[in-house]
Amino acid sequence: MFHHRRDADEFPEDLLVFYDPETLQEICALKKYLLTRKAAARLDEVDEWIWMIALNRLTGHSPGFFSVYTLPPNQAVSVKSQRKINQDRKQTPPRRKVPDLICRKTGQLLSDCDRTVRKILAEVGGQALLLTERAAATPAIASDSVALVVTSPPFLDVVDYSGDNWLRCWFIGVEPLSVDITAPRKLEEWERAMTEVFRELFRVLRPGGHVAFEVGEVRGGAVRLEETVVPCGMAAGLRAALVLINDQIFTKTANCWGVDNNFKGTNTNRIVVFQKPG
Ligand SMILES: C[S@@+](CC[C@H](N)C(=O)[O-])C[C@H]1O[C@@H](n2cnc3c(N)ncnc32)[C@H](O)[C@@H]1O
Repeated sequence: MFHHRRDADEFPEDLLVFYDPETLQEICALKKYLLTRKAAARLDEVDEWIWMIALNRLTGHSPGFFSVYTLPPNQAVSVKSQRKINQDRKQTPPRRKVPDLICRKTGQLLSDCDRTVRKILAEVGGQALLLTERAAATPAIASDSVALVVTSPPFLDVVDYSGDNWLRCWFIGVEPLSVDITAPRKLEEWERAMTEVFRELFRVLRPGGHVAFEVGEVRGGAVRLEETVVPCGMAAGLRAALVLINDQIFTKTANCWGVDNNFKGTNTNRIVVFQKPG
């Protein structure tokens, strides 16, 4: 368990735009503790749980997060942008107690997790396979074994996944650019990348199995990705069953991303359903 709240190897002062100094100290100490345990192959289930919660509490827009008010937690703004947010809102990072917030969030997440749920999760968890690798090459998944694939791939280069995750990457000691993210600028490149993925999905699907492939409307509606997706899936041998169009209701997060209705970004999304012939 995490006892050494002050034992850290670093104190990145830039991050004081997000955190009170003592809070930052606790975050750095937790980072050191977790990375040291990981390096020694001594992470236990409790450590992993704490790591998951802390990673998702790093920055956000409410007092449930370690940071002062910033954008919602799907992304971290740059230090420069946060400085501007602080100036505009006349705010200084308040003291947030890292262990307390982790405990509070844990309580919320586990509030409906009684003995029965735990038992079911343990059984199902034993059969789960968690992989972090390119969707186009998943040799750990047996051929003809999957009933349903639900996926939401990157939509061209609309979202900057490595840029948005710079702070989370810092916390877990990962170099963002070392992660192999598919973010093609051109539609033809995206098409090629998705066809490769569909070939792999075809391989892992059992005959009669389905793929639900979610795509957005990008570039102000000029590019309708589902029109590209259908031929990609068919080229891999899948049968296109239907396209479901979902009119997006704007969330706080979408507004923060600068999405204006029907002008920029993703406004509607579509789920293309394919089936592997039985
Ligand atoms: C539109 S988001 C979907 C996020 C997902 N629904 C979730 O909740 O995590 C696309 C995701 O695909 C990931 N990604 C990018 N390239 C990939 C690849 N070649 N193989 C698998 N995943 C990839 C991105 O990092 C991003 O998390």
